[in-house]
Amino acid sequence: VNKRPVGVFDSGMGGLTVLHECLVTMPHEDFLYLGDAARLPYGPRPLPEIRRYAFEIGAYLEAEGVKLILVACNAATSAALPGLQEALSVPVVGVITPEAHAAVQATRNRRIGLLATKATVEANRYGELVRTLDAGARLTPVVCAKLVPLIESDDPFGAATTEAVREYAEPVKHAGCDTVILGCTHYPLIRPIFQRVFGRDVTLVFSAEETAREVAETLARKGIENSPDREGGYRFLTTGDRETFRTLGQRFLQLPLGEVEQVTIAQLEAAAA
Ligand code: DGL
Repeated sequence: VNKRPVGVFDSGMGGLTVLHECLVTMPHEDFLYLGDAARLPYGPRPLPEIRRYAFEIGAYLEAEGVKLILVACNAATSAALPGLQEALSVPVVGVITPEAHAAVQATRNRRIGLLATKATVEANRYGELVRTLDAGARLTPVVCAKLVPLIESDDPFGAATTEAVREYAEPVKHAGCDTVILGCTHYPLIRPIFQRVFGRDVTLVFSAEETAREVAETLARKGIENSPDREGGYRFLTTGDRETFRTLGQRFLQLPLGEVEQVTIAQLEAAAA
């Protein structure tokens, strides 16, 4: 039995959709979530900059005593996963491998669409992984620059979001993809819009469920689970505004979100120094 918490981080709230699945899959574990809202969004930033942020947060969470780190952000996973795994002593799990795996298994015509932020498309980790798993599968990536700001806005289910999803779905439909990876942790929040635009015949792959399963398996295989007969807790840290995180965060987590603690960028920088 290992009583230490699991560390989870994202550029902001999106990773809460992944935390939600983790809390449902592993109700006996404790979680420490860090949302780097002061530096959100990561998606449009250059990869080396995202890598630096991910290193700072990884070092900070490790110093806080977590037993595993879950990078609940596709942009940060794309930019930094192998480097984090090299630099840290705890296991590091990202959101891309489980999705690539699920997509390759799900597709029947071997045409897979990818909707994601600029950083995730640019890094091409999905492309590499899909190729490793099935060199005959074809990936059609689409940069969806408008979606994260729309999802974080006051009206995530408005006409503007549907219009943007239709626009981004076009090249994927044109390529005849029967499976689409929603490669951004914000996207599960507008799941009904994707489902309506793509229709029932297209399989949508979200990171949250696949990733929670991977975390649970990693803890079990390494023998570092907490005891199964307890109910775990969860704590939140943000570099941004605590009240905004609390109110907006509840929408993503769909579970009560208590006090949010402040962490400064200077503290994160110091952890990596
Ligand atoms: N959470 C990020 C991701 O999954 C999206 C938000 C951002 O661009 O920071 O890529």
